Amino acid sequence: MLEYEAVGGSDLRAPVLSRVWVPPGVYRPQEDSLLLADALNDAPIQAGTRVLDVCSGSGVLALSAAERGAVVVAVDISRLAVLTTWVNARIRQLPVTACRGDLSRAKELGPFDIVVANPPYVPAPASAAGGPFAQRWDAGSDGRAVLDPLCEAAWELVRPGGCLFVVHSAFNDEARTVAALQAGGFDAEVVRRTTIPFGSVLRSRRGYLNTVGLCEQGCAVEELVVIRGDKPRE
Ligand SMILES: C[S@@+](CC[C@H](N)C(=O)[O-])C[C@H]1O[C@@H](n2cnc3c(N)ncnc32)[C@H](O)[C@@H]1O
Repeated sequence: MLEYEAVGGSDLRAPVLSRVWVPPGVYRPQEDSLLLADALNDAPIQAGTRVLDVCSGSGVLALSAAERGAVVVAVDISRLAVLTTWVNARIRQLPVTACRGDLSRAKELGPFDIVVANPPYVPAPASAAGGPFAQRWDAGSDGRAVLDPLCEAAWELVRPGGCLFVVHSAFNDEARTVAALQAGGFDAEVVRRTTIPFGSVLRSRRGYLNTVGLCEQGCAVEELVVIRGDKPRE
């Protein structure tokens, strides 16, 4: 059982993760997905709330919002992820529209009441293999290749009075995300934290993380954070 430190606090709802179909090649929901799903419980979702799940993977967060009555748009750059979200939504007959694309596509479809994002954020050396599967988690030398554009796009994605939830690792510098959202006009703060053991990807990156000064030699745990940004009403 995962445990979370809730900053501002809410109870952990029974996760939907175990019920989601995930084919090989699509990101399998894990601790970051769970932590974000928990933070999303704080969001004022009711019947008809428009939610964007960007970087949607299997669609687990989209499904979680739709189960609460939201009308959801899920956007992912991977065709297989989009198909997976579509199948998961159809099985449950939930109102989730799955679209292939990136932040530009999401902007065309917005603005939204709530935006939720679990982008790729693992720091990767230039020599990393890359390829379509690595785009599930690899995000440039500091892991901010999608995070920074997301912060920049946030103002257009979220309607006035709405909010954004984004999860990433403390290796990506949570203060940068908070500052970027605040600079864009949001009220922003960390609302969830949890510390987890390195998974296989981070174990393989330990040398790189140490070389660029992101972790001590032999480091075996990372902290995940969820940041919430609230856009003031006009
Ligand atoms: C860490 S996974 C998160 C999946 C899911 N939201 C979850 O929490 O389990 C990141 C997802 O972002 C997608 N992705 C990567 N770069 C993207 C981009 N520029 N725009 C949209 N999706 C992207 C990947 O295909 C992958 O499905």
